[in-house]
Amino acid sequence: MMCGIVGYTGPRGMETILLVGLERLSYRGYDSSGIATIYNGELSTWKKPGKIRELEATLKNFTIKGHVGIGHTRWATHGEPNELNAHPHLGNEGKVAAVHNGIIENYTHIKQKLSEKGHIFRSVSDSEVIPHLIETYLNGSLESAVEKTVKELEGSFAIAVISESDPDKIVVYRKGSPLIIGVGKGENFISSDVNALMPHTKEVIYLDDDEMAIISKENVIIKKSGNIVQKKVNHISWDAAQAEKSGYDHYMLKEIHEQATVSRQIIAKSISKQNKVGFKHVESSMTYLEKVNRFIIQACGTSWHSGLVGKYWLEQYARIPTEVDISSEFRYRHMISRENEIIIALSQSGETADTLACIREAKSKFFNVLSFVNSKGSTMDRESDGVIYTHSGPEIGVASTKNYIAQLISLYLFTIFIGRLKGTLSEEKADKMIQSVKKIPEYIDSILGNTDAIKTIADKYYLSREFVFIGRGVNYPTALEGALKLKEISYIHATGYPAGELKHGPIALIDAKLPVVCIAPQSDTYNKMIANIEEVKARKGKTIIIATEGDTQIQSLADDIIYIPSFCHDLTPILSVIPLQLFAYYIAIKLDCDVDQPRNLAKSVTVE
Ligand code: F6R
Repeated sequence: MMCGIVGYTGPRGMETILLVGLERLSYRGYDSSGIATIYNGELSTWKKPGKIRELEATLKNFTIKGHVGIGHTRWATHGEPNELNAHPHLGNEGKVAAVHNGIIENYTHIKQKLSEKGHIFRSVSDSEVIPHLIETYLNGSLESAVEKTVKELEGSFAIAVISESDPDKIVVYRKGSPLIIGVGKGENFISSDVNALMPHTKEVIYLDDDEMAIISKENVIIKKSGNIVQKKVNHISWDAAQAEKSGYDHYMLKEIHEQATVSRQIIAKSISKQNKVGFKHVESSMTYLEKVNRFIIQACGTSWHSGLVGKYWLEQYARIPTEVDISSEFRYRHMISRENEIIIALSQSGETADTLACIREAKSKFFNVLSFVNSKGSTMDRESDGVIYTHSGPEIGVASTKNYIAQLISLYLFTIFIGRLKGTLSEEKADKMIQSVKKIPEYIDSILGNTDAIKTIADKYYLSREFVFIGRGVNYPTALEGALKLKEISYIHATGYPAGELKHGPIALIDAKLPVVCIAPQSDTYNKMIANIEEVKARKGKTIIIATEGDTQIQSLADDIIYIPSFCHDLTPILSVIPLQLFAYYIAIKLDCDVDQPRNLAKSVTVE
């Protein structure tokens, strides 16, 4: 399960703290939610299928008391999203409540064993075995019962448990799924990510795998294999307001509009006054970077698309052979590690299970790992040899937008950095590339100034049930990304192809009803792209073309046209994707879809 866990112990209103936390985590999963609290030694739970607002409406009918509580927002893996399968789950006697993020792989075996002993299970969820097992071990402290329980669990999990037997504590355990403790004064919090903690505290402790924390309002004790461990308390620099909608209808729209600011931030943080690119957190790993002779990029979804663009840049300018693979494939290939090869992981969340598994597998084979992550303190941040932060701030909309741009700019700057380090890029060329990067924010602003025109085109096409996106070279990944944005938030089927590949099969799809989005800025393959668009037109396909400002030649081929500023060809993916994000957004709005929380998706994919 990719779910959100929250917990609170302290004097403030339990209901509000848990609900605010769940709301802020709801992008992680949103098919059902629930809370459990202890008051006067007695455990109570409230659960509801649907969005958090359903739970909130239910809670209005009750007075929630208590100073220890846990909550959960679910993204179903085992069992449909109904009230019974919602968390928190209770033990057999209802004395223990637990919330879980992850998958218990051996749950059928445990369930069978406990059923034979007379346990009655109320749900079909794998997670329910956790409180049942804990209850069977509850003859000492809650903490030792949790310790014994986790020894029997196989799979990945973050759990939070409360019990009538230990009514002042929350016990949490992490193995494979993220869990963060928010440290307050006379109160403490837990959460699956820092976003839910931001309104309350900026002091956090990141739990590592196989660590348990025993949390009361005054104390946080962390143990590993029975021994107390001292952990660093980290200060979060994000501002709570950054995770608000700030007047926009949706997080996604706000995040699309933040892209110029994000690019300014990256430029400010990574380019010095002397026009040198620097990455603070990789400098210590320079020695292995100097020797690199191959990069292997691995990532999922949108992050994989930015990796595909990065390959073009790294090969063209740094002259380093680069492979790009989807993490869920790469992890099961038999990776061959050769000297001086580096694995690059790209991830907004820094928690994606497949990407993380590749990092671990790669490290076990003695690869060095460099990660590009947005979430500071995330597992990938902590487990990689070097880290480049993408500085896009909290991204809440489930469909990634601003972090895609941030990854692209960071990869381009990294290419310049490596090119200089290896001597494959002349100073003059590197300077020119940096000057181009500095123009990105103003160009993004100019595209965003054209939002109404993009909305008008979206309004024209929103009833089409299928779209094809085509592009070439650096804009082939843009075609993939444009198609992904559209399908994930509007549920319209869309596929991206390299334009030259059309004639090898997909061209059979084209008829007068099919809109084809053609990404055709000026480039060295522009004429080839024109030929491909001609092929579409010859079969009466409808063409929506992304073209360079001033390109009048292409107008005769376009049913609709969106211009982007004239820019050096290599960097056009950073611009050309923005109209496609807006196009997907306005189509989804017209279809009345929930753009921030599309069905079946979750922001942080912490299961395989
Ligand atoms: C699509 C999207 C996903 C993520 C993917 C990887 O809009 O957001 O495809 O890109 O789940 O997530 P991270 O980058 O967090 O590893």
